[in-house]
Parts: sequence; structure tokens; C-alpha cells
Amino acid sequence: MDSILVTGNGALSGQIPIAGAKNACLTLMPATLLSEEPLTLTNAPRLSDIKTMTALLQSLGAEVSTLQDGQVIAMSSHDLTSHTADYEIVRKMRASNLVLGPLLARFGQAVVSLPGGCAIGARPMDLHTEGLEALGAEIELKDGYLHASAPRGLTGAVHEMRFASVGATENIVMAATLAKGTTVLKNAAREPEIVDLVECLRKMGAQISGEGTSTIEIQGVDLLHGATHQVVTDRIELGTYMLAPAICGGEVELLGGRLSLVGAFVEKLDAAGIEVEETAKGLKVRRRNGRVQAVDVTTEPFPGFPTDLQAQMMALLCTAEGTSVLEEKIFENRFMHAPELTRMGARIDVQGGTATVTGVDRLKGAPVMATDLRASVSLILAGLAAEGETVVSRVYHLDRGYEHVVQKLEGVGAKIERIKS
Ligand code: EPU
Repeated sequence: MDSILVTGNGALSGQIPIAGAKNACLTLMPATLLSEEPLTLTNAPRLSDIKTMTALLQSLGAEVSTLQDGQVIAMSSHDLTSHTADYEIVRKMRASNLVLGPLLARFGQAVVSLPGGCAIGARPMDLHTEGLEALGAEIELKDGYLHASAPRGLTGAVHEMRFASVGATENIVMAATLAKGTTVLKNAAREPEIVDLVECLRKMGAQISGEGTSTIEIQGVDLLHGATHQVVTDRIELGTYMLAPAICGGEVELLGGRLSLVGAFVEKLDAAGIEVEETAKGLKVRRRNGRVQAVDVTTEPFPGFPTDLQAQMMALLCTAEGTSVLEEKIFENRFMHAPELTRMGARIDVQGGTATVTGVDRLKGAPVMATDLRASVSLILAGLAAEGETVVSRVYHLDRGYEHVVQKLEGVGAKIERIKS
């Protein structure tokens, strides 16, 4: 298994291009199942999760091909041959469950393996199934698979989610596009990836309003048609690389970044002593003189501070002046990076969903192990500013969500290399 060697070596400068959003692309790809006509995505990120979704769609009989070195994904679901998402694929990637709503809407049936838990939490699917049942689906759990059917089609309904789940919102919105009548989804998630999905569905002929607010209204239509859509910028990759100059010093411009994607995160950076400026090309980030200051962070659904940036923010706060309290409110087990950062000399006390970080002057390089995608990149960030060498193993987690990480960081002066094994 490959690992990444990082050597702490001071300030960074230059530009980093930000890719299209993994989590937007992973919901846009299943949208192809809603129509017989082709759907083409541009600005797609080159990631192993996208390959997993490609394999899943192909296993259903969809045609999926990539152009321009993987940045364009051309899909057609004209002749689907299966409506079963197999455990062997779903267990690799939870986002596979996003085929449930589209398959059910187009064919009146879908069989989707339950994904099971993952490193960051149990991650059940009850909010997905409750929403689809409100639209008239019958869903039964058999042999680890959700068997969903709607023989007479789905029917619009008013449904309020108990929690604003991103994936459940995506599944319910996609299903409702082909339902009879109007669906009103209350307490919907407001993430930019959902806005991006709705913009694409609208190009395909769907009638939807209210995306980006907590009430989304969908007027069902008989058919959706083909479209071409550009994937929105990855706000988590953006926030991750914004932390590189914040941790190491210097000034880096993140190409394609917009403040509207990372508002709550930028507020915390500002309080910590990091300046962020919106430019014509993206966001410019630099650290103010002096040491980073401690800040408290609580993760929340968008527009709050994203759980997907909590591990990386912790890497910054490990060397801040003072004590920071990080509260993880979205996933029950998302502090697996804390013991690894502790191996690098960080002072972190985790009690349940709260981590208290007392800043130290400098971290020290060490061999550390990635436990999930965001944890792995937080260890790389920590290694960039640590004294000596840090070797991050199990980097296959990283390949799920960060394309060309070595090249992007090398491009701004970091000492980083991938060690093949
Ligand atoms: N939840 C339930 N029941 C459900 C669905 C969710 O209890 O039916 C719970 C989850 O267990 C979790 C919370 O609700 O505790 C939030 O889950 P949500 O459904 O909002 O998350 P998701 O759709 O599974 C997406 C991203 C995650 C990101 C979360 C939160 C994709 C493919 N994944 O997951 O991304 O952390 O939203 O913003 O969009 C990542 O990229 O590293 C990542 C984990």
C-alpha cells in the first residue's frame, strides 16, 4: 500500500486549482438513471469514488465513458438491465445508495444493499426510506438489501425530514421529479451540492424550486431529457487547501474558490488570524503576523461549519495559541485523527463528541495512519508544518477524495512525495 512522505519546510506560495466537488458528482451521476437520454458532466474530479460510482452505474446497464482525462463523464441510461445495487459495490462507498431514488422513480422498483457502518459512524438510511415511503413506495429489508417498489408510480406528498440529511434530500428530490403531482420536502438539507443537483435536474426538465432553503418544492413531470452540466467547485477540497498556508504561513490562491461556499469556515479562520480575500480567480489566503489563535468550532449542516473540514481544522488548531474546543455534531465517531495527531505531539483530549485541543509550539513528524478520507488529509496538513518527516500510510482513503494531492501541494512549495509500495 502506498504512503505519503511529508517534510515540514515553512511557508507556501502560489496557486492551487480546485476540482469539481466529489459529493456533487456522486449525486449528479445517479441522476442519469432518471432519463433515457444522455447526461454529460464537465469539471468532474478524478477520484476513486467516481470510479466506484461508474462501476455501479455500469452494473445497472448504463453506459459511462470518460473524456478529457476524466474531467468529462458522458452517461446514458437508455438500456438499463438491472435495478439492483450489489453489496460488493455499495460496501465500498456509501454514496452508492443514491441510485435508490432514481431507480424507483424510473422503474417503480429498486433493490439496494444497505451500506453498513463506516469508520465515522453508523450511518443508517431511515431518513431516505421514510421520505420515499411518503411518496408511496413500499420498502422492505431482506437479506441486507432494501427492496423498494412503487408499482403504480410515486405520488407527490408533503414530507418533513426529522434531520436535514444530505443524501436523503438528494434521493427524495430525484425520486419526486418523476412522481405524480407536487412534493414539498421540509427540513431539507441546504448544501451547495444539493443546489448543484437541482440545477442539473432543472436542465433535464424537472420543475423544482426552493433549493438552498429548507423547503424544496418539486412538481413531478412525465419524462426527463438529456443535459450537460458543470460540477460545482469542491468546497471541502477548497477549505482543505485554504488550511495549507494557514498552517505553514505564506500566501496561496485557490483557483475557483468562492466565499459563498465556505462562509462559516472563513469566519473561524478569521477568528484564528487567517486572512481570506475573494479575487477574480478565487480565494487568496494568508496568515496574519504572529501565532494562530485558538477558536471553538461546532460542526453543523450547511450553512454551518462542515463536518468534512473538522479534522483539517483540528490540524491547524494543534499549534494555535490557547485552547480550542471542537464539537462534532454530525457523525458520532469522527475524531479518529486525534490519536494520530497526538503521535505528532498534539495535546488533544476527546470526550464523546467533544475534542479539547491545547496548542503546542510545533508538531513533530511521525509515522501515522489514515483512518478515513478527511482524517488522512488532516495528517498531511499537520505534517507540512511539523518538524521532520511524517509518513502517512493507508493513502487509499485520500485517493477517494483528493485528486493530484502531491502535485497540488508541491506546486506551492511543499515537500511531499508518494512512496509506492
Ligand atoms: N442519518 C441518519 N439516517 C439517514 C441518513 C443520515 O440517521 O437516513 C444521519 C447520519 O448517520 C449522520 C447524519 O445523519 O449522522 C448526516 O448524514 P447525511 O445523510 O447528511 O450525510 P450523507 O449524505 O451520508 C454526505 C457526504 C458526507 C458528509 C455528509 C454531511 C456525500 C456522498 N457524502 O453524506 O461526505 O460528511 O453529507 O455533510 O455527499 C466526505 O466527503 O468525507 C463525507 C463523509
